[in-house]
Amino acid sequence: MADAGAPLAPRSERRRQGRLPGGLRLPGIRPGALPVAGDREWYRRAVFYEVLIRGFFDGNDDGMGDLAGLRAKLDYIEWLGVDCLWLLPFYPSPLRDGGYDISDFFTVHPDLGTLDDLGAFLDDAHRRNIRVIADLVMNHTSDQHPWFVESRASRDNPKADWYVWNEDDTRWPEARIVFVDVESSNWTYEPARQQYYWHRFYSHQPDLNYENPEVVDSMLGIVRFWLDIGLDGFRLDAVPYLFQQDGTSGENLPETHAMLRRVRKEVDAAYPDRVLLAEANQWPADLVDYFGDGDECHMCFHFPLMPRLFMAVRREQRFPVTEILAQTPEIPAGCQWAIFLRNHDELTLEKVTEEERDYMVTEYVKDPRMRRHMGIGRRLAPLLDNDRRLAELLQALLFSLPGSPVLYYGDEILMGDNVYLGDRDSVRTPMQWSPDRNGGFSRGDFAQLYLPPLMDPVYGYEAVNVEAQRRNPSSFLQWIRSMLQVRKQFPVFGTGTFEVVACANPSILAYVRSPVPPPAPEAEGGRGRRGRAAAAEAPPQPGNPVLCVHNLSRFAQPAALDLSRWPDRTPVELLGRIRFPAVGVGTYGVTLGPHGFYWFELLSQQAEPGDLVTRGLG
Ligand code: NOJ
Repeated sequence: MADAGAPLAPRSERRRQGRLPGGLRLPGIRPGALPVAGDREWYRRAVFYEVLIRGFFDGNDDGMGDLAGLRAKLDYIEWLGVDCLWLLPFYPSPLRDGGYDISDFFTVHPDLGTLDDLGAFLDDAHRRNIRVIADLVMNHTSDQHPWFVESRASRDNPKADWYVWNEDDTRWPEARIVFVDVESSNWTYEPARQQYYWHRFYSHQPDLNYENPEVVDSMLGIVRFWLDIGLDGFRLDAVPYLFQQDGTSGENLPETHAMLRRVRKEVDAAYPDRVLLAEANQWPADLVDYFGDGDECHMCFHFPLMPRLFMAVRREQRFPVTEILAQTPEIPAGCQWAIFLRNHDELTLEKVTEEERDYMVTEYVKDPRMRRHMGIGRRLAPLLDNDRRLAELLQALLFSLPGSPVLYYGDEILMGDNVYLGDRDSVRTPMQWSPDRNGGFSRGDFAQLYLPPLMDPVYGYEAVNVEAQRRNPSSFLQWIRSMLQVRKQFPVFGTGTFEVVACANPSILAYVRSPVPPPAPEAEGGRGRRGRAAAAEAPPQPGNPVLCVHNLSRFAQPAALDLSRWPDRTPVELLGRIRFPAVGVGTYGVTLGPHGFYWFELLSQQAEPGDLVTRGLG
C-alpha cells in the first residue's frame, strides 16, 4: 500500500504542502497528494499499461470514457497486475490529433473530467501502488492554443517569437516530413503575418520555438505543475525535434539534448522518484543519446526493436531481433528501455530498411486501408490473424527481452481494430468490458459514442470481452495476468544482463537474463563509456539467471543450446516449476512445439528439491 508518510526531500515536502518560501502558493500543488513509496528505480522493474481515457470506461454515460470511469476500473487494473499507467494526452484540445494538439497545458479536457477528478484518481491509484505517467507534448501545440493565436496575429506581439517563423518555405529542406501521406511541407503560410510557420507534424500543430527562453521557462513550469499535482512522470512526445539547425535534419540536435538535461535537472532537484520516458523514433545509436550520461531521460522506447519482432516471427528466424539488439549500445546505470508490441499509433516502419518495409507491408497489409502514415494501423491480434500461440510467443518475448514492457489497453484480451475509421482511430475503439450494450463501455446511446465499438463476429464485444475472459481460467487475459505474476517474482527480467545463447537452429531465439554481478576490476576493450558506467555503479543483485528459449517457427523445432557458461545448473521451468535435466557436457537439448517457449530458472546444484513445487505457480 502507498505510504503517505514516506520521507520526502525538504523541497518536495514544501511543494506537497503547497507552500513556497514567503508563503506563496504554487498553482499546481495539491495538498495531501499521495506519493507511492518505493525505490527510485521502480520503472526498471515495472510493467506499464497504456490507456486512452476516452476509450476506457464512461463514468457519466455521455458516450466518452473519462477520469471517473478510469478510476472505477482501478480494481481491474490492480487485478491485472500492472505497475504504472501511461495516460494519453488528457488536456483541452480540438482533438485533431488524438489530443496531441493541446490548447491548454494546465487543465483536463472537460469531456474527461476536472483537475479534482484527476487528483482523486491519482490518489486511488497510488493507494494501490499503481503509478501514473502522462504524455507531455513539448514540441508543439494546437493552432488553437492562445499562445499561437497571439503569435500568428502579427509580427510584433509579445508571443511573436514563441513559434518558428520564416519569410519563405524553403528553409531546412533536409528535415523530413513525418506525416508524409497527409502533409506536403513542414511550413504553412499565415496571411496575417505574411510568413510561414514550422511544424513537424500536422499543419495545425505549430512547433514551439525553444530558442526563446520564455518558451523554455514556460515548459519547465508545465513540468512542475503536473509533478506537483502528483503525476509520476511523463512520456515526452516527439522529443527529437525541439530545435532546428541549417544543413541538418533537425533531429537529435545538441540543443535538444541540452533542453532535456534541463528538464531532468528540474525533476531530479525536486521530484527524485519520477520518470521521463522519451518518444524518439530513431536508430539505436541515436536513441541511446536520449539517456545522456544518465542525465537526460530515465527511459526510452526501443522503436527499432518493435517491427523486428513482427519480422522475426513471420520469417521464423531470430536474426532481425538479434541484429538490432547487437546494434544497441549499452545504456547508463539507472536507465531502462521501454519495449512494446503495439500502441495507439500505427505500427511504424520508419526505422527499417526499404526492403524490410516492403516485406512488412507484403506480410501484414492485406488491404490498402490498413496503411497509416509510414506504417500499419492495426492492433496486435489482427496482425497475427488472431493466432493465440503466436500472441503468447510475442508477449513472452516482450516480457523477457531487456526493458520494461508497455502493454496497450485491449491487447490483453486480444481486441481487434476497425480499419474503416480515419487516421489512427482504427486502433482506438472502446475497451470491451462485457457482452452488454456498447460492450459495457458506456450506458450512453450508441450514436453518442466517441467511436463505435467492434461488433464483428470475430473481434466484436460479444466474442471478446473482459467479463468472459475473467470467468475463463484458460483465457488469454488470465494467461497475461499469470505472466505478469511470474515477471514480478523474477526482477532479473527488468534489471538483469542479457546474453544470447548460441543455437544452430535459426528459428530458436534463446538468451539468459542474469543478475548483475559484483563490480569487477575494469576489463579493457569491448565496452563503451556507458557500459563501464553501468557496471561500476549498479549494485550486485541476488537471484539466479533465467534462461529464455523461444521457437519463432510455426512448426515444432529442436534446440541444441550452448549452455557451457552455466555448467551444472538445473533448469526449472518458471510457469510450472518443473525441474528439467541438469546441464551437462555438450549442448543442452530442448524440443519446442509450434511457437512454443520456455523460461527456466537456472538453479545451482546446491538448491534443495524441496524448494520446488510440482505444479502451478507455486
Ligand atoms: C507521437 C504520438 O504518439 C502521435 O500519436 C502524434 O500524432 C505525434 N506524436 C504528434 O504529436
